[in-house]
Amino acid sequence: MVELKGLSLAYPLPRKRLATALGHIDARFEKDRFSLIIGPSGCGKTSLIKIMAGLLKPGTGKVLIRGEEAQEAGVKRAVIFQDFGLLPWKTVQANAELPLRIAHAKEPERKRAALLLEKFGLLPFAKRYPHQLSGGMKQRLAIVRALAAQPEILLMDEPFSSLDALTREDAQDFLLSVKEEQALTVIMVTHSIEEAVYLADSVYVMTGKNPGTIQTCITVSRNGLSRALFREGREFREYCALLRNTLKKTPEPPPGFQGKRQQEEA
Ligand SMILES: Nc1ncnc2c1ncn2[C@@H]1O[C@H](COP(=O)(O)OP(=O)(O)OP(=O)(O)O)[C@@H](O)[C@H]1O
Ligand SMILES: [Mg+2]
Repeated sequence: MVELKGLSLAYPLPRKRLATALGHIDARFEKDRFSLIIGPSGCGKTSLIKIMAGLLKPGTGKVLIRGEEAQEAGVKRAVIFQDFGLLPWKTVQANAELPLRIAHAKEPERKRAALLLEKFGLLPFAKRYPHQLSGGMKQRLAIVRALAAQPEILLMDEPFSSLDALTREDAQDFLLSVKEEQALTVIMVTHSIEEAVYLADSVYVMTGKNPGTIQTCITVSRNGLSRALFREGREFREYCALLRNTLKKTPEPPPGFQGKRQQEEA
C-alpha cells in the first residue's frame, strides 16, 4: 500500500553544503500489515518516517499510497514520535481531541475521542495534564490521539523506547488489539530486535549511514501460533538471531556512492 520509489534525502548544511542521509530506497509496505523498521543509530529511520508522514520532502524519488502520489491519495496518516508529541498545557481530553479540533470536527465526531479515552482506560484522567500521567498512560494517550483522526496508516518512531519492560509489553499488546479491531497499516521504528520479531509481519532492516538504506525485508511467519506462544518457542529465537546477524553484516555501499559522508557543494 505504501511504496517508496528511488528515495533519497540530503539535509542542507551551512555554506550550501548537503549531508546525504538516505539513498537508493525502494520498498513496499503492505496494507493492513504490521511493518517494523530496524537499523543502527543514524541510518535514517526518523528521516524515513518523516518522509512517509509528508513532513519532509525527499531529495529524489517519491512516496506512493495506493499507487498515487502520497499527497494526492487522500489517505489519512497519523504519526507518533518518541516523545509522544503531547501538548503539556492541554488536558488529556484536549490532547485527545486535538486532531478533530484541527479538522473542525462536529460534536458527534468529537465524541469519538471520549469513546477512545474510555476504551483505553484514560477517561478518569481526562482533566489531568500530561505531566500528571505515567509513561505508559502518556503512550496510550498518544495512540488515542492518533486514532481519533481515524487514520488508515499509523507511523510510529520508537514509541515504546522510554517504557519499562512490562509497561512496554502491555503497550505492544494494546497496539496489537487496536490493530486487530480496525484495518490499520502500521509502520513502526524500533531499536529492539525482540520487539521487531514479536510485533512484525515484516521487518525492514536498514543499514549504512550517510546514506542509510533498506537492505532487506524479513517476513516473520508464526505458523498460526499466537504471538505470546510464538515468543516462547525456538523459532522466535532463530528469527532474533537472523535479524541480529543481518544487522551486523556490513553492506556494500550503494552504487555510485563514494566516501563515508557525502558533502557536496551546491
Ligand atoms: N536536520 C538535520 N540536518 C543535518 N543532518 C541531519 C538532520 N537530521 C538528521 N540528520 C542526519 O541524518 C542522518 C539520519 O538521521 P535520523 O535521525 O533519520 O537517524 P535515525 O536512524 O532515526 O537515528 P536514531 O536511531 O539515533 O534515532 C544522521 O546522520 C543525522 O546526523
Ligand atoms: Mg530516530
